[in-house]
Amino acid sequence: MNILLTGGLGFIGSHTAVVLAQQGHQVVILDNLCNSQMEVLANLESITGKKLRFYEADIREGLALRKILSDNQIEAVMHFAGLKSVAESAQDPLKYYDNNVCGTINLIEAMQAEKINKFIFSSSATVYGVPQYLPYDEDHPLEPINTYGKTKLQVEEILQDLVKSDPSWSVVALRYFNPVGAHESGLIGESPKGVPNNLMPYICQVASGKLPHLNIFGDDYETKDGTGERDYIHVMDLAEGHVAALNFVNQHPGFHAINLGTGVSYSVYDLIGAFEQAANSMIVRKVQPRRSGDLAIYYAKADKAKNLLGWQAKRDLQVMCKSGWNFHKQKS
Ligand code: NAD
Ligand code: WQD
Repeated sequence: MNILLTGGLGFIGSHTAVVLAQQGHQVVILDNLCNSQMEVLANLESITGKKLRFYEADIREGLALRKILSDNQIEAVMHFAGLKSVAESAQDPLKYYDNNVCGTINLIEAMQAEKINKFIFSSSATVYGVPQYLPYDEDHPLEPINTYGKTKLQVEEILQDLVKSDPSWSVVALRYFNPVGAHESGLIGESPKGVPNNLMPYICQVASGKLPHLNIFGDDYETKDGTGERDYIHVMDLAEGHVAALNFVNQHPGFHAINLGTGVSYSVYDLIGAFEQAANSMIVRKVQPRRSGDLAIYYAKADKAKNLLGWQAKRDLQVMCKSGWNFHKQKS
């Protein structure tokens, strides 16, 4: 199929591009490069051995979008483009509503005009908010506690209304848990601009000596060792989940929200331990107060993805840490 990946040079989009191209799909990438670099495209081409079509464009540019969709006879869109910093979304909410919500409306309007109605949306486990029970299943109440999460929920609601108004649309909102790791080649991975917010890229920078120590945000949670627990998922498992979702949208109109997680939670200390083994180095750490807005623990019920998509994560914490470190080493 001809598939447009918005945000396709970013962390999750680039890994998905590899899997799609390797399965024979025609991948077209659109990205405004606000959080990615052009060199990712060359690396994608060297991993896949294929030339990929790329447009430096913004999802808020309606006319450009329509031209890209029609010139490439796009049949389905995977929508990764978005801003994702919880902290920044609190400081600059309008930037987040504009990019994530208005940008998505613009994209689906362009799709509607071009009569394309298969859509896979990058949602987030953040839409659930404070756990009322765990694991989170897809029917858990949706009460995000930060602006970033609210933008994801608003888009899900817009998509649901769209499907109600026109049942020929086929939409899957994939609620990702905590994506980590990198492609086995070490050519693509997660490379945040500035000081990383997330645990795994921060640990990598401590291991390589770029940062002096890891701050552990709280060791007094009611979790197995006092540190936060999360459902870390290998980005290549996530990428494969998108291919499964593409097969699904081809046959199932309607709106479907599906968790992509492993169903297992690991603590900050678990991740540090696995990383130290994978990288064969010690991670200097300092316990700090809790980070505001953090939840103690959450993880996915992953049964819906298994039942509907026939997909299940298969890579373990060691593979996540090894591949993440391998990418970071090659890059630095
Ligand atoms: P990323 O920042 O690496 O990739 C996003 C890409 O979108 C970047 O290349 C950026 O340049 C591009 N982009 C942003 N705004 C754009 C715009 N207006 N027009 C065109 N391109 C634009 O992020 P990621 O980790 O790959 O995340 C992809 C998607 O998944 C995002 O929507 C994010 O909110 C969502 N998500 C990510 C995580 C995570 O922890 N990484 C978890 C849950 C959901
Ligand atoms: C994981 C654990 C921290 C950094 C965020 C977004 C979420 C989703 C994924 C997009 C927590 C602890 C972290 C550090 C630490 N993104 N930690 N020291 O907060 O679960 O999720 O990314 O949708 O929306 O909120 O991920 O990697 O930041 O934190 O101790 O330097 O590691 O307290 O327990 P988080 P994270």
